[in-house]
Amino acid sequence: MSNSPSSNHSHIAMIGLGVMGKSLTLNLLDNQFNVAGFDIDKEHLTATTQEAKQLNKGTFLACDSLTRLLSTLKSPRVISLSIPAGKIVEQVIDDLLKAGLEPQDIVIDTGNSLWTDTIAREQKYQSQLQFFSTAVSGGEQGARFGPALMASGSAEAWQSIKPMWNAIAAKVDSNGLPVPPLHDGESCATYTGPSGSGHFVKMVHNGIEYADMQLICEVYHYLREAIELTPHQIGDVFTEWNQGVLNSYLIEITADILKQQDFSTDHPLVDMILDKAGQKGTGTWTAINSLEIGCPTPTITQSVYARSLSSLKSRRLIGAKCLKAKTQPVDKTNLSAVINELHDALYCAKLCAYAQGFDLMNATSEQQNWQLNFVDIAKGWRAGCIIRATFLQDIANAYHHTPALDNLLFAEHFAHQLEARQLSWRKTVSNSSMHGIPMPGISSALSYFDSMRCGTLPANLLQAQRDFFGSHTYSRIDQSESAKYHVEWSHSPRVEVKR
Ligand code: 6PG
Repeated sequence: MSNSPSSNHSHIAMIGLGVMGKSLTLNLLDNQFNVAGFDIDKEHLTATTQEAKQLNKGTFLACDSLTRLLSTLKSPRVISLSIPAGKIVEQVIDDLLKAGLEPQDIVIDTGNSLWTDTIAREQKYQSQLQFFSTAVSGGEQGARFGPALMASGSAEAWQSIKPMWNAIAAKVDSNGLPVPPLHDGESCATYTGPSGSGHFVKMVHNGIEYADMQLICEVYHYLREAIELTPHQIGDVFTEWNQGVLNSYLIEITADILKQQDFSTDHPLVDMILDKAGQKGTGTWTAINSLEIGCPTPTITQSVYARSLSSLKSRRLIGAKCLKAKTQPVDKTNLSAVINELHDALYCAKLCAYAQGFDLMNATSEQQNWQLNFVDIAKGWRAGCIIRATFLQDIANAYHHTPALDNLLFAEHFAHQLEARQLSWRKTVSNSSMHGIPMPGISSALSYFDSMRCGTLPANLLQAQRDFFGSHTYSRIDQSESAKYHVEWSHSPRVEVKR
């Protein structure tokens, strides 16, 4: 695809010029692509037109109707939707069909749609258009200067879209580190495979994002309440951690936030913010998905619960009065040792959250026959997205070394790390428990790790309980697993029968 600005036609049409649509449009223009734009809100259209003029790069054409919008494109026409998830996606597609969309034309949903809706839409419109999806991570700044893109749909449609998405996506250098906007590098636009897989991968990205954020907040809570450091001091701890294995966007912004003073009082800003977490739903989708498919993601799911628990503020205030804690004081004599333990606990728990996310992708990939490529996915998250971190290069290396890795924790590099840092993790969980500071993420990750390294779990007893009250049967360790047994528990004498 030529992206010469002198080309008469627009390369792509953008429907929806709100925060994300406008930013993606300006990014496309920066990269010399011509964009036709439409928005029912005329103010959005005007704002994009004005900002596009300042760039003087690709051409922006503001359109007042979908018919006009389609007339500016060459076949196959590429139309990107930057609109909220939900029914509106179908309403806009139906309007596009009425305006003359043809079967070879490509419609890309760049919203945060539920992946199963994306699959249903691809099927619904398969004879009328090519439905494609691209999940965008990185918020407004990412969309403007280099997001991570998770694209899915037909391989043929991808060929038409790829040059544009590769150009606008975030880039990394040969060491896997992000490069500044408009610099050359490996693109973080990842084609994940068949329809729905891109939105699914983004959903898991968000589940991991929830866990990453929650784990950082738990460490902050401990340092604040148990060790009594100031937000600024904790910010300094995170700044230091950002130089090592925990280097990531979320650690970086946390340090920045913690050093910010309030604008109208003399307090740290974080102390003035109400402790009720919001959520738009992608973390819950991840948790539901993991429960439905039977692939445990306890740390991700605990992070969703932690947000829900935080929102029960009035109930927690009652609890604060009537539930008295019996705790032990924290030994603060060796502060740097405690801080190092927290660092290792955060690293290990973070690793578990990623292991859970990749496991969920693996299970769903097998179920849907997607053949997700985990090297590409980890590499695609190294820049632009919210969970970008240097540690993602290690994950990519692990899957490159062993593509059929059963679990990320089993990769030699990570198994060694867990061994080296494990005692600190255990001490942190134990200290937080003795001091009464909740650590649902960090402690659930430790239980996950301990469960994953237990060759034998007490599920033998559980199976016997199920058989006792419900005749649900069990398998024996000395017989084939497919052979089912039951005890006549109410008989005397009891007998075991094969079912
Ligand atoms: C991203 C973010 C983005 C958004 C979340 C917020 O990758 O750019 O994940 O998608 O910030 O959806 O989600 P919550 O409101 O649920 O925290």
